[in-house]
Amino acid sequence: MPVLDQLGRPQRSLRLSVTDRCNLRCTYCMPEADYTWLPKQDILTFDETVRLVSRFMAAGVDRVRVTGGEPLIRQDLAVLVQMLAGLGLRDLALTTNGIHLPEQGSALRDAGIRRVTISLDTLQRDRFRALAGRDRLDAVLAGIDHARQLGFEQIKLNTVVIRDRNDDELVALCDYAESVGAELRFIEYMDVGGATQWDRTQVVPRHEILARLGDAFGGVEPVSDRDWAPADRYRLGTGLIVGVISSTTEPFCRTCDRTRLTADGMWYTCLYARDGIDLRSALRAGADDGELSGLIERVWAGRRDRAAEDRLALRESRRALAGADELRTNPHLEMHKRGG
Ligand code: GTP
Ligand code: 5AD
Ligand code: SF4
Repeated sequence: MPVLDQLGRPQRSLRLSVTDRCNLRCTYCMPEADYTWLPKQDILTFDETVRLVSRFMAAGVDRVRVTGGEPLIRQDLAVLVQMLAGLGLRDLALTTNGIHLPEQGSALRDAGIRRVTISLDTLQRDRFRALAGRDRLDAVLAGIDHARQLGFEQIKLNTVVIRDRNDDELVALCDYAESVGAELRFIEYMDVGGATQWDRTQVVPRHEILARLGDAFGGVEPVSDRDWAPADRYRLGTGLIVGVISSTTEPFCRTCDRTRLTADGMWYTCLYARDGIDLRSALRAGADDGELSGLIERVWAGRRDRAAEDRLALRESRRALAGADELRTNPHLEMHKRGG
């Protein structure tokens, strides 16, 4: 029997951050000039990572998504992926900015990655440079093209929509996604740790995204296959399927079956959680398999997180979760530490 948390949710999915470093500086994730990086000696070895993932599997997890920072920056990532694939997970996926896919994509596919999600917020070069802090749009598009040629089972594109920054590109991004055969998901800009510049007026709510898509594509209908994924899917008048992840205005905490493990072995049961569980220390202190999975199950059984729903109640007073000062003292709050 799966262990249920206090709101009746099973734990099924783990987002595994393999590095907190990134080769881009997206303004919704890394807007500051300086960051506190995780010390090298704290980063879990591949053996430690696989051991912890196997303990999560004993506690019910059967889906793992490898994330970062930018996961392809972690040296020998394909070796880790192969070790994870050997555990017999039902799903092993990757979220990346795509830049290193041309060199590493084929090794990652061969190692066991089935599904890839690539972040793409704009198709305009100047805008990309402004939004991501680096002039790498061509590299990202080359990465997407390469992923297509490799024949992954599924390729998704993630677009964080920010008013007056990229919200005039919804139609162009849909056309692009169709041309490359990828499923595009529009994500509401979230007030998570790291998004220190967040302002609620910059959020384009789901209903507005859908209204604009309906106008441009001759209608929009929900596709009724909602399970436990964060995206709601819609069919446009042209037949194209797109997703909307409305984490900010219509959160989905009720069906949240996921947790996050940082590259240094801190475990967070909510994207917004200020405190985590230090699994690295337990592991390095010599905890055996039963103790580790017992700890994971106990924490899950007590879980009541529904932070995104709680934050809705803040209404007009809603601000960024954390300021730059708090992030310096609690760097684990950063989205690039806990895996996007
Ligand atoms: P699947 O494995 O296909 O379900 O992928 P996914 O949609 O979970 O993964 P992806 O990395 O594409 O996540 C998309 C975005 O959804 C993230 O970058 C976040 O913006 C948002 N998101 C993912 N998980 C959570 C969560 O637990 N809570 C909230 N509030 N938002 C989340
Ligand atoms: N709002 C929404 N999504 C975010 N991501 C990171 N920061 C934010 C934010 N403030 C997500 C994006 C990106 C993934 C790696 O992390 O979806 O594609
Ligand atoms: Fe899960 Fe927390 Fe996100 Fe809600 S806010 S969906 S509980 S991670």
